[in-house]
Amino acid sequence: MELLGVHMRVDAVGNLRGFYPAAQPNSPRLLIGSHLDTVPNAGAYDGVLGVVLAIALLEGLQGRRLPFGIEVVGFSEEEGVRFGTPFIGSRALVGRLDQKLLDVHDAQGISVRKAIENFGLNPDEIPQAELQKDTLGYLELYIEQGPILEKLNLPLAAVEAIAGQSRLEFAFLGRANHAGTTPMHLRCDAITGAAEWISAVERLAHEVPGLVATVGKIEAKPGAANVIAGEARLPLDIRHGSDEIRLRAVNDLIREAHEIAARRGLSVRESVLLNQAAVAMDSFLTAEIEKAILKTGCKPHRMVSGAGHDAMILAEKVPAAMIFLRTPGGISHHPAESVAVEDVERAIECGLHLLDQLASSPESYKRIKRA
Ligand code: GLV
Ligand code: MN
Repeated sequence: MELLGVHMRVDAVGNLRGFYPAAQPNSPRLLIGSHLDTVPNAGAYDGVLGVVLAIALLEGLQGRRLPFGIEVVGFSEEEGVRFGTPFIGSRALVGRLDQKLLDVHDAQGISVRKAIENFGLNPDEIPQAELQKDTLGYLELYIEQGPILEKLNLPLAAVEAIAGQSRLEFAFLGRANHAGTTPMHLRCDAITGAAEWISAVERLAHEVPGLVATVGKIEAKPGAANVIAGEARLPLDIRHGSDEIRLRAVNDLIREAHEIAARRGLSVRESVLLNQAAVAMDSFLTAEIEKAILKTGCKPHRMVSGAGHDAMILAEKVPAAMIFLRTPGGISHHPAESVAVEDVERAIECGLHLLDQLASSPESYKRIKRA
């Protein structure tokens, strides 16, 4: 970025930001970015490809200045691995990184506030990370992370909406005891209660069309082969294009957890870490992306993203849009995640067409800052 004459800074929540100025001072700005964090045992493209592509678009301008500036953002903490809560970096831009979120702890008991301080940043400066009043919109380029574009034999797509998601944490509490001496009918085994509930989660997700529900991890205490588990903690990640269906499923699964626990002499506690509504992408920007895809010689396609993205947070305040790149094998959140070089080349070409279209469209400027 510095080679392109762009000064970089780190905002108070750890987002990396650089501003490429417009042809004239006091012009509006377009944000382009994605996130820099990732999941355990991840692939190399989820998130970071979008940041690299934003920089590639600036490079592609070859020094040309547009009627708007471009701010490249590399967001922190999108995945929610460390604190169980995703989108922490982008929430700062829309003014939604509140005290409650700053108090959330990681597995070591370190709060978001403390983690920010340990990184040498000042959480009291988070309000300064908020979006500028002159923001035209937000653009994010991303791998699809699914099989649809590959099946359709298409390299690129415009995202029309992002599915809503909830994240919860459940703790089944029983009584730890000796594995050899405690008869089966006298046990209060937290792990078997959790296991029964996990099966109920899978069953419900099979029954409700379009619902996806995942328990990606389980922690048992005290955690030994010869001790009945006194405690089992597990997260629930649940998503659907309809918020109503998702929230109904969340309620059903909470009720089911309590029924299973009661029948087994256990108790259960749940906490809701995230209820993120489904979000439509901006219709003007999405239509412009389709035109730009056509200019690259490809057939435009519109699709819903099952994965969550920072774009769904930015969309609360500014017009937001996304371009998807085909993902070989539909594999993501896995080391085998990949992308074809030719598709990356097309995405850059598409992005450059889009920037030119926005630069010459009066409609782009009518849309500055909804909030
Ligand atoms: C982000 O990768 C998500 O969980 O959708
Ligand atoms: Mn991801």
